[in-house]
Formats: sequence, structure tokens, C-alpha cells
Amino acid sequence: MKKTILITGATGNISSGIITNLKDSGHNLRALVRNPEKADALKAKGVDVRIGDLEKPWTLDAAFAGVDTLWLLTAGDPRSPEQNSNAIWAAKKAGVKHIVRMSAAGAEYNAPAISYRLHALSDAELVGSGIPYTLVKAQFFAQNFMMAADPIKEKGCMFMSLADGKIGIIDARDISEFAAKVLTTEGHAGKTYTLTGPASLHMQQVADAIGAAIGKPIKYVAIPVDGVKKVLAEKGMNEWAVNRFGEIFNAYAANGGDMVSEDFRRVTGKAPRSIEQFAKDFAGVFGKS
Ligand SMILES: NC(=O)c1ccc[n+]([C@@H]2O[C@H](COP(=O)([O-])OP(=O)(O)OC[C@H]3O[C@@H](n4cnc5c(N)ncnc54)[C@H](OP(=O)(O)O)[C@@H]3O)[C@@H](O)[C@H]2O)c1
Repeated sequence: MKKTILITGATGNISSGIITNLKDSGHNLRALVRNPEKADALKAKGVDVRIGDLEKPWTLDAAFAGVDTLWLLTAGDPRSPEQNSNAIWAAKKAGVKHIVRMSAAGAEYNAPAISYRLHALSDAELVGSGIPYTLVKAQFFAQNFMMAADPIKEKGCMFMSLADGKIGIIDARDISEFAAKVLTTEGHAGKTYTLTGPASLHMQQVADAIGAAIGKPIKYVAIPVDGVKKVLAEKGMNEWAVNRFGEIFNAYAANGGDMVSEDFRRVTGKAPRSIEQFAKDFAGVFGKS
């Protein structure tokens, strides 16, 4: 059945990947964009772009009218529960039949990081809304390692503040692919999926994979969370976001991400991408000429 699917977060990492996956699917693809200047690239892909801001609920009704299925993604923001709430209410009014929400592995009321507690609030609101839902709880993205690319290139060191924590790292491309499948196939209502890669990895294993892909040894150097927070603040990141990252890093350093889930394989019928594949595909980012 041809669906009208509204994609929020359409200019960001995961949602733009969903659009790439679905652009030739035969479904009506609609994208919610808050900044009209960012709409052109999506329009060029044939996407029906609607301007709306999740913090301005009065801008949402026209974008949501006629939508069957909603992909709901919000950024890491103190107002994300409000953004989610506005989206769920607009969906309710529009008679949306299924909402698939980007959450995070570890989203719980008592989680040690605000990011996970905010996700837990939005997950609960969606579950309580009465609209058929699917929750996609993703682990740490492999693409996060691109933040460490400069010292990898310049010094052969991967600086991260994750101590000896192991993480079931997932390639962001797999999250987009998985979401595209869930948005367009049946049987996912009421389900919560956890997405990890194929293995839980120590950061030196990640450094080794990048080293093999670029042809030089890379050493993982664990740095204190306070040091990273200082660097992020110096780069101009706002205080809330700096501390949000600090809490996330501490949670991972304490092994909060040490898990492997089979959900990706169960739904898509194939293995998630390995860290070796990620490193190979993005070797240029890490300095391979
Ligand atoms: N990174 C990780 O390792 C990880 C792991 C698990 C879960 N997550 C979750 O993944 C999500 C982030 O995904 P991502 O990396 O794809 O996000 P992203 O690239 O940061 O994109 C965020 C999107 O949200 C849009 N947006 C922000 N505020 C908005 C508003 N008020 N109204 C409408 N749109 C708005 C942005 O639009 P503009 O272009 O206009 O800014 C952008 O399109 C977060 O919920 C995070 O907690 C991340």
C-alpha cells in the first residue's frame, strides 16, 4: 500500500539517510524542515518539503495533514520532549496511523545521563498516546568517531573519553536502512528495537580498524571527560550541550553501552555493518589519500 510518510529531522544524519533509502520506494515522501534555506537540496531529490518547527506547534498542522506514517526524530536538545509532544499531538489531530520514533539505547527514567532520561519521557508519551508506535533505540553511532579524525590524521592517536568501556557501536547508515524498512513494512507496531553493530568493542579495537583501513597504526588514548568538556566549551558549544556530552561519555566509560542486539538482523535479514566496513568506507575522512 502506498503511504504518505513524513520525515522529521530531514536535514540531519539519520533522517537524510532514510530519505535516500526511500526516495525510489514508490511511497509519498514528505520532509519537515524548519529552515527554508535548507529545503532546496531535499526538493532536488523530489521530496515534498513542508516548512515547520517542532517548537512552534501552530506551524505543524498543514505538514501533518494526510500523513499515514511519521518518522519522529529530535536533536539532542533540552526542549526535545516538548518537540516530541508537539509532533505527537499534531499526528493525533491528523489521524496518523503509525509513529516510528528515534530513541536511544539506555533511555530510562533513572539513566545517569539527561539525554537518556529525556528520551524516556518522549518514549513514554508516545506509548501513552494511543497511536500505534515503534521505538528504535540506537547505540553509539560509528560516525561519532569522525570527531576524532584530525588527531588520527596528524598524530596517529584516537583521543576519546570512553576509558575502557566497550560499546556495541552501530553504523548510522544501518539505522537509516532499518528505519526505512520499519516505516514501509507491516508488523512493527508496539515493538521496541535496540540497534547495535555486530560486536561490542573496546576503543583500541576501533582504532585498530581505522589503522588497518588507512594503513598506519592508531593508538587509542583515553582522555578525562573534563578535558573533553573544556575543549567543547572552547569550541563554542553551549553549557547544556557540553554537560550532556560529559554525562554520555561517563555513562559509556562505565560500560553502559556494552551490549549486542540481534534486532537489526531479525528485521532486515542481514548483518549490521562492522567497524572494519565503516573504517574502510570512510578511510578518506581519517586521512587515507
Ligand atoms: N549520536 C549518537 O551516538 C546517538 C546514539 C543514539 C541515539 N542518538 C539520538 O539520535 C538523534 C540525533 O540524530 P541525528 O544525528 O540524525 O540528528 P542531527 O543530525 O543532529 O539532526 C537533527 C535534526 O533535527 C532538526 N531539528 C532540530 N530542531 C528542530 C525543530 N525545532 N523543529 C524541526 N526540526 C528540528 C534539525 O534541523 P536543522 O538542520 O534545521 O538544525 C536536523 O534536521 C538524537 O535524538 C540522539 O539522542 C544519537
